[in-house]
Amino acid sequence: KMQEFEQVLCEENLFSSKTEKEIHQQRATIESAIRGRVDFETHAVKLGGIQGHLDEICRSSRIYMIAMGTSTHAALATQTILTTLTNKSVSVMQATQFLDMDEPISKSDLCIFISQSGETADSKHALDYCNQAGALTLGITNVVGSSICQNTSCGIHVNAGVEVGVASTKAYTSQYICLVLLGIAIAQAHSITGSRVREMSIEIIDALRELPGKTEEVLNQKAKIRHLAHLIQEKQATIKESTMFNREQSNSLYILGRGFQYAVAREAALKIKEIAYMHAEGLCASELKHGPLAMVQDNFPTILFALKDRYQEHAFNAMNQLVSRGCVPFVFITEGDELELARNFKCKENVPFHIALPKSTPCLQGILAVIPMQLLSLYLAQARGCNVDQPRNLAKSVTV
Ligand code: G6P
Repeated sequence: KMQEFEQVLCEENLFSSKTEKEIHQQRATIESAIRGRVDFETHAVKLGGIQGHLDEICRSSRIYMIAMGTSTHAALATQTILTTLTNKSVSVMQATQFLDMDEPISKSDLCIFISQSGETADSKHALDYCNQAGALTLGITNVVGSSICQNTSCGIHVNAGVEVGVASTKAYTSQYICLVLLGIAIAQAHSITGSRVREMSIEIIDALRELPGKTEEVLNQKAKIRHLAHLIQEKQATIKESTMFNREQSNSLYILGRGFQYAVAREAALKIKEIAYMHAEGLCASELKHGPLAMVQDNFPTILFALKDRYQEHAFNAMNQLVSRGCVPFVFITEGDELELARNFKCKENVPFHIALPKSTPCLQGILAVIPMQLLSLYLAQARGCNVDQPRNLAKSVTV
């Protein structure tokens, strides 16, 4: 007990805000989202809270993931892998958008509600709507005993521990893991015998085993992320003095990702807006030439994810579209891909500032990629003197 107490005291002093502490707790929270649910020897996944409903879940014809804010991004980040693992059509919707559309829901639908607090009013309204339609409802929540826990047919606790910072960080990565585990549990129960899905499940489970260690490796790169925050501010300062730009561009940032990294880009932009009060936009890299490129001139700060997966080539493509407009992005790559970056970079003499992240299976890379973005938003917020834990105008839980 004494040791635990000392550990708590030590942690309290190490971090200047709850948010910073929560970001750094993610090795442990990721471990606790996985613990007791995965047998690494047999590659079996067992989720106690949905076990009694698995048959019904497998019989469902469509899957809806419904949430607000950061929780929606956990849904977006796992939509593709859930589609593959379950072989069902999976939709992601903000709770309000879902209600606005009067989406026709039936008894054969599975509606998953993702909410850190389990008390978000919009998500609760959408849950009432689905319950009335007789759909099977599943809650993915962090707060045990919350309204969404109580009013769903079954559920999964993300086990991230109390999250105090208004901007959700550790709960997000745990939601992400629970959704991936849900996909594997459905694939296994469904007896999807296709060897591709089986092999993929095994690959994900093996990657989950290594994920806490890799999370630590990412957190250890914080000096580089702090430097990135500094570089972004430097570019913005240059823009402020330049007559080529308008004033809005000096407080703005693009974050580009494709495939699994699109959700990372969206979540990163939300974090930066939330706690650093800086305009940031998370874009699918393929969208650039359909409008956003008009904002881009030299020094306009952009971050690009070009991790090792089947979308990497498209990401490099986007990088060169930016370079052609005189804008050199900050690039996140996978460890070992330094030469790949240099090979794909148009102006050979000047490889962009880049940060290499540990390799994982493609659908889990979004966890390792979002952590540097949480740190980046924190460092930008600290540099700008913002209240990191309690940003202006926002509440941790929007219950009205
Ligand atoms: C608020 C918070 C966000 C959070 C969202 C959804 O807007 O400021 O950080 O992502 O609510 O909250 P929930 O508890 O449902 O995940």
